Amino acid sequence: MSWNVSNNPAPWWRTLAFRLTAGYALAGLCLVFLATASLYLVLRTELEKSTDLFLVDKLHVVRTLLRERPQDWDGLREEIELESAARRYQQFYIRLLDEHNAPVLATPGMAEQLDLSRLASQTQSHPTRAFSMRGRHKQSFRVTTAPAEVGSPSTSTDTIEIAIDVSQQEALLARYRHWFWAILLGTLVIFPLVGYQIARHGIRPVEEIATTARHISSKNLRERILPEGYPFELASLARTFNEMLDRLEESFERISRFSADIAHDLRTPVNNIRGEAEVALARARTVDEYRDVLGSCLEEAVRLSELISDLLFLARAESPLTQLRREPVDVAELLDGVREYYEGSAQDGGISLTTAVDSQPVIAELDRNLVQRAVGNLVSNAVAHTPVGGSIVLGTALATAAEGSTVRIEVSDTGEGIPADALPKVFDRFYRVDTSRSKASGGTGLGLAIVQSIMVLHGGNVEIASQVGQGTRVTLRLPVAAAR
Ligand SMILES: Nc1ncnc2c1ncn2[C@@H]1O[C@H](COP(=O)(O)OP(=O)(O)O)[C@@H](O)[C@H]1O
Ligand SMILES: [Mg+2]
Repeated sequence: MSWNVSNNPAPWWRTLAFRLTAGYALAGLCLVFLATASLYLVLRTELEKSTDLFLVDKLHVVRTLLRERPQDWDGLREEIELESAARRYQQFYIRLLDEHNAPVLATPGMAEQLDLSRLASQTQSHPTRAFSMRGRHKQSFRVTTAPAEVGSPSTSTDTIEIAIDVSQQEALLARYRHWFWAILLGTLVIFPLVGYQIARHGIRPVEEIATTARHISSKNLRERILPEGYPFELASLARTFNEMLDRLEESFERISRFSADIAHDLRTPVNNIRGEAEVALARARTVDEYRDVLGSCLEEAVRLSELISDLLFLARAESPLTQLRREPVDVAELLDGVREYYEGSAQDGGISLTTAVDSQPVIAELDRNLVQRAVGNLVSNAVAHTPVGGSIVLGTALATAAEGSTVRIEVSDTGEGIPADALPKVFDRFYRVDTSRSKASGGTGLGLAIVQSIMVLHGGNVEIASQVGQGTRVTLRLPVAAAR
């Protein structure tokens, strides 16, 4: 036996635990990456959108003031200064340039925060768009510029610049990015660990099943798996495995009991022959005495050869190569033959032996010799177990069912019957209700086993019903036509 294959540890990348872990970790990582990255993008877009909306809104206010009250500089200044002062955390600055790009008006303190000459040159390169720009103290600004008509009808076209400090938002996004990488790194460490634990936990029952299987040999079929706490699929695997072991154990037991029985049954006649021969040879005998000894030796030899041919028959019947010699058989005629054969011994025992057959002929494709042997075994049992005055009836009938016609053969007697607890075992090899194996009651306990294997060969079955003190009925069912 070679366990090498299973004992060599598989390379780690081929283990189920590794594959599950890798799959789990990869899926987890992708999910976390997608979730955090998309949240980041949404957040950034939303912040930008709200800033741009604010800028457009301001632009609109200043434009309206310029168009409708072009001379009201105080109103304009007030508007710009007030709004700007109200916003402590998101400072914004407004500047107005005239047609010649000379500053007309600006939020106080703007020059300290922004490099105004750089702002002017940026404004010229993006006359109607929003752009980003750094302040003097490294702050981030979002700037929007637009032309504005002064007065209505317009007398000139000024340029408005609005800059808003977005450093807070930038800082928020930067913090978010840091967390993003930290979470990703954590995922990279934690997911494989958790995944590995989960995979190990899930695989443990499989390993336990493998360990049990490894311990099992023909001498140790006792081990079973305790599927407690197993997930459903593996519990059912373990149960199936246990059931298989039950069956194996049972058939191993049957085989070893069988060989012990064979040994016993072969030894008895051999010992008898030997004993008789030894006694006979111990001193000189008369011719009659020698004849007696030879006679009983012959009897034992016949018993022995019958036993051996029964055993051979059973062994052959189990081989898958066994072929039946099927031919159309008139079952009523076959039963008559059997009855004739056993008539003498039935008469000797004071038993009536009759056939009860339908008027219609029952013809089936059977192996004549084997079916004869099966019915013969049943009749010989009935004769052996029916007392004086009893009766034995052989019957047959056709039964038609959806699965095809079957022929039924029944052997019933009014004999001693079989106790209910023994009934399921009578088809076992060597099983006998009377275990004394006295020569008087005949057989070796193989008769019904042979009947059963003949039925199996034909694709039929056998049933037995019995009442102690009332009698026994054995029913054979055989398909009329051979299965193709
Ligand atoms: N017709 C029957 N009536 C009573 N007992 C029976 C009958 N047929 C079989 N048996 C019981 O079943 C046992 C097994 O039968 P069988 O296999 O033919 O073995 P054997 O006839 O060699 O004992 C018999 O020993 C007997 O106890
Ligand atoms: Mg028998």
